[in-house]
Amino acid sequence: MKLNIKTFTILMAFLLSGFFVAQSQEAPTDFLSSEFHKGRRDALRAKLPDNSVAIFFANPIRNRANDVDFVYHQDPDLYYLTGYREPHAVLLVFKENQTNQNGDSYNEIFFVQQRNAFQEMWTGRRLGDKGVQDKLGILNAYNGAEFEKYDIDFSKFSKVLFYDFKNDVRDNPGDKTDLFSLITQFKAKVGYEAGAKSLGTEPQKNNLDVRALNDIMGELRGIKTPEELDLLRKAVFISTVGQVEVMKAMKPGLSETEIQGIHEFVFKKYGSEYEGYPSIVGAGNNGCILHYIENHKPHIESKEMVLMDLGAEYHGYTADVTRTIPVDGKFSTEEKAIYDLVYKAQEEAIQMAKPGATFGQLSALARNIINEGLAELGIISDASERHMYYPHGLSHHIGLDVHDKGPYNKLEENMVITVEPGIYIPEGSKCDKKWWGIAVRIEDDILITKDGYELLSAYAPRTSEEIEKLMAQPSPLNQFRLPNLKGNK
Ligand code: GLY
Ligand code: MN
Ligand code: MN
Repeated sequence: MKLNIKTFTILMAFLLSGFFVAQSQEAPTDFLSSEFHKGRRDALRAKLPDNSVAIFFANPIRNRANDVDFVYHQDPDLYYLTGYREPHAVLLVFKENQTNQNGDSYNEIFFVQQRNAFQEMWTGRRLGDKGVQDKLGILNAYNGAEFEKYDIDFSKFSKVLFYDFKNDVRDNPGDKTDLFSLITQFKAKVGYEAGAKSLGTEPQKNNLDVRALNDIMGELRGIKTPEELDLLRKAVFISTVGQVEVMKAMKPGLSETEIQGIHEFVFKKYGSEYEGYPSIVGAGNNGCILHYIENHKPHIESKEMVLMDLGAEYHGYTADVTRTIPVDGKFSTEEKAIYDLVYKAQEEAIQMAKPGATFGQLSALARNIINEGLAELGIISDASERHMYYPHGLSHHIGLDVHDKGPYNKLEENMVITVEPGIYIPEGSKCDKKWWGIAVRIEDDILITKDGYELLSAYAPRTSEEIEKLMAQPSPLNQFRLPNLKGNK
């Protein structure tokens, strides 16, 4: 073909537009792959009892106020198995192959919300059944409207496994494909109401099982695959960078809210979509409230410490990292005594972590060190005294949930857990006043390896000496000044 100037111009415009389209990326590309999700559905299938089906519903949309909903977050099990991030969906995973009316064989079906140009203009893009087939690789996907008429005889299964319902899903009146309708239709198909009493403690009167799935999913989710570890490493690293930047920026007069904001700005800078749980930033006595999330003290004081427990959630996976630092950059004698004791308990528990060690062993070790230390400091009379200065557990799994599903007996390779001892001495405690208002938690995230552990959160310093050294460094935020709010018209 001879190329005249007009054809050439059109061709170049076409190529360039293609170039720019290729350059402009709508979304991150490092999500879990469709192969990962398929692998997890296969792994679930392998664990299901004979002649059973497992059913998973999407999370409900929750209303915040009037016509504004809370930011939607998918149910972690459904996300783990599909990668689907939209509401109004139900997944069925069958142990054995099933045959439909056309004689086709299948071992899973996914009903998802239908595409709708008008709704998508307001609330965002939807995959629809075709998108789920193309992008998530789940070939047996249908629009939710098909669920009601889809012919499945649930009575033929020995077990129908699902999580019991919390009866608080929002109804879109008249929408036969919303979550409320899907659940209503499901209940009718499996005879839920008729057998509802037997789902509790009474002997079972039908094939419905609302208990077993939790352990099965825990066995799967408790051991992380390489793809999951990749995302968890990112989430943990991002969270530690937040801690490091705040250590540099910390000074008397900051508010708890703005300290939270610095952490969360770092999270967003790295593309973390959410906080994995409500951020905890407690100065002084506020640190003694384990899940303090008001974070509203306007001016932190130089003689306080700030306890900061925050986790970035990156593509579904959340970190859980806590650092406790002195506002003025220097631990007082009492603060250092408590801090170093918590550090010792944490470090020795971490050193003990390897496959075969139990959660209970790590926990007992840390608790004994803390009890003995508190007795030595005269805060309790002897190490066997019952007290409330360390009222929580040492470790939990992290993953798609901050308190992730998983087995809690022996540690196994590729588990990811926290190690988080703490000491909290609220004002008014029965000990010398000099200890009042001191609250320390040090929380790190470790990966259990073949013969030990890897400290994933190592980027944020942990020892009192390293923290003081880092806090002496300048912060770029020292130059960040905003106009005064008062009197600003
Ligand atoms: N951030 C909650 C916990 O440490 O378990
Ligand atoms: Mn934790
Ligand atoms: Mn935490």
